[in-house]
Amino acid sequence: MSDPKHVVVGVAGGIAAYKACHLIRNFKEGGNDVRVIPTEAALNFVGAATFEALSGNPVDTGVFTRVDEVQHVRLGQEADLIVVAPATADLLARVAAGRADDLLASTILVATCPVVLAPAMHTEMWLNAATQANVDTLRSRGITVLEPAHGRLTGKDTGPGRLPEPEVIAELARTALETGPFGRELVDKHVLISAGGTQENIDPVRYIGNRSSGKQGFALGDIAAQRGAKVTIVAGNTVELEAPSGAEVVWVRSTREMEAAMRERAADSDVIVMAAAVADYRPENEADKKLKKGASDDALSTIHLTENPDILRGLVEMRDAGQTQATIVGFAAETDNELENGRAKLARKGADMLMLNSVAGGSVFGQANNSGWFLSADGGVEEIPDGSKHVVAARIWDAIGRFSG
Ligand SMILES: Cc1cc2nc3c(=O)[nH]c(=O)nc-3n(C[C@H](O)[C@H](O)[C@H](O)COP(=O)(O)O)c2cc1C
Repeated sequence: MSDPKHVVVGVAGGIAAYKACHLIRNFKEGGNDVRVIPTEAALNFVGAATFEALSGNPVDTGVFTRVDEVQHVRLGQEADLIVVAPATADLLARVAAGRADDLLASTILVATCPVVLAPAMHTEMWLNAATQANVDTLRSRGITVLEPAHGRLTGKDTGPGRLPEPEVIAELARTALETGPFGRELVDKHVLISAGGTQENIDPVRYIGNRSSGKQGFALGDIAAQRGAKVTIVAGNTVELEAPSGAEVVWVRSTREMEAAMRERAADSDVIVMAAAVADYRPENEADKKLKKGASDDALSTIHLTENPDILRGLVEMRDAGQTQATIVGFAAETDNELENGRAKLARKGADMLMLNSVAGGSVFGQANNSGWFLSADGGVEEIPDGSKHVVAARIWDAIGRFSG
């Protein structure tokens, strides 16, 4: 997907305003015309000069500048996407009330394009009934209000209220642009996702691994969290990835560790997605000292393997034994005869649904984009067109919802 042309980055007066600089760069690097609209309060945190230099456009806060250009209407009319990061409690209140008392509020009031607000504030302000009511109002009007991240806030406190990292905000905003405003279909649901690749030790320095980056699993977690789910990710080896907003991330290394972590949480889950690439085999014996090349026993040149547990199959057995009520979704990566092989895998494993990726020519692993087919056990099939892993994640959650009836 190519980026839109006119992106408005709004910046309100929160301590996280500095992170907006990275967001502006992200959209500039996507080839967009970026117009930054800070509030007066935001300029206490980052100067207009920074925003002007980064965006290459003039920066105003009020409706009475450049009046001849009728900016308070024109910027909203021209925008293809508006992203506000950080959005303060005060800004949420003003937008929910339909106010137009500065250039940013006025621009949002005029806009018909997707609007994504990324709130950041202390936990007490976020959880306050007034703020939550404003968020509900905004969401009911089709504005995407992102779930804030959990973690360290200004000072010593931690909790929900942190601004997600700029790359995550940009990714989610681009997703909203493609899929429409985020719904709240997963409120009160617990989703359990495995992500990344497992690693099996040969000796203290070597292992057997695979090229899974974990990006698709984490993108599924990001979208589920934004749709209101409680998210747990059991993650093997991944590239450096930010935990989805509010998610618990359990780091594991081997297939057996991943199996234990998944089984422990399965009973408490509504949907389980096995997006991880698990090692099917592990060395029969893990050496406790580094194996030497050319040693007399030749242990390094001939590694005997033993089969790992089949995590997906084990979870299906738990479901069949009534130990979990979860809908179970598997992943398959095939290089040829994809649909046929995918159908066979779905039947063999007994999962409820399967996301089938084509990995012909090494595509998908570590890449930004993904595509494939989504299959259900009762014969349903939906093509998932090429898109970013976040867009694909949104389409997968849509398909899970449809196939679950
Ligand atoms: C040091 C400092 C940090 C602040 N950080 C935040 C914040 O993170 N989130 C928030 O909602 N308000 C924060 N505020 C309060 C806002 O700046 C204040 O409500 C202001 O009126 C917001 O105006 P605006 O929404 O027009 O930008 C902070 C204030 C100060 C002095």
